[in-house]
Amino acid sequence: MKKSTDDVTQFHSVDQAKNPTSFVQFMDTSHAQQTAQSYRQEMMEQLALKDGATILDVGCGTGQDTQDLAHAVGPHGRVVGIDSSETMLQEARARVAGMQIPLEYVLADATQLPFADASFDGCQASRVFGHLREPAQALAEMVRVARPGARIVLADGDLDLTVVDIPDRSLARKIVHAACDQMVQGWMGRQMPRLFKQAGLIDIRVEGRLMPLDYTFFQIAFSGILQGARTAGAVSAEELTRFWNALEQAEQEQHFFARVGGFVVSGRKG
Ligand SMILES: C[S@@+](CC[C@H](N)C(=O)[O-])C[C@H]1O[C@@H](n2cnc3c(N)ncnc32)[C@H](O)[C@@H]1O
Repeated sequence: MKKSTDDVTQFHSVDQAKNPTSFVQFMDTSHAQQTAQSYRQEMMEQLALKDGATILDVGCGTGQDTQDLAHAVGPHGRVVGIDSSETMLQEARARVAGMQIPLEYVLADATQLPFADASFDGCQASRVFGHLREPAQALAEMVRVARPGARIVLADGDLDLTVVDIPDRSLARKIVHAACDQMVQGWMGRQMPRLFKQAGLIDIRVEGRLMPLDYTFFQIAFSGILQGARTAGAVSAEELTRFWNALEQAEQEQHFFARVGGFVVSGRKG
């Protein structure tokens, strides 16, 4: 039985969703996956954090990464998490209530950051740009608020790099493309290096990964997306049933296999 969730393609407007707290739950489940942990480690490394640094986390969600950043910069540093969702920020604030860490959360849109030019030693956004209608504008804002020499780091998936092992290849390909096209920016992963170059960033570093998804998380992540693809007419109800049945069978036979591709890209402001 598929576990249902709100449609994760709606992360661009969490507060307007039928059940905004389901996005909080999704992020918690997601952070328990190897996928998120792998992104986090790589992003921290590429940010090259220093004690006392001032760091911006764009689209911070419930603040899991933001808290890690605050611990990493130490008591003389400062970390600001911004998000366009009040639901996410309320949760993020509740999770650090009473803690003595140099962290603050601000309601703001990624494309219009409420900060002066050159005010951060580093900026990151994890799994946010795939939800943005104007990713180049959001990156331009991160570049604007970064100090010369600061590193800017993005992590995002590329949904066309989703692989599943089912007998019907053409069905797998059709479903993966349909899922990808439901996202605002399903190809964000492969587009980030170009966006970095166009934004004038230098010393660009690109790390690509294929990250494992277990069957439970695959259902949580993809059931809403694929329901949307069916409503949009990209796949039929019959194709979807065949797809889920094939995955269910693989799971029962203990050979379910799925990976999703993503990239961590960073660049330096000259
Ligand atoms: C998939 S979550 C990732 C959250 C967090 N970065 C993490 O990895 O745990 C995407 C986040 O981006 C936020 N978001 C979406 N569109 C945004 C925008 N235009 N400006 C700021 N935040 C945005 C959402 O509210 C959500 O919290």
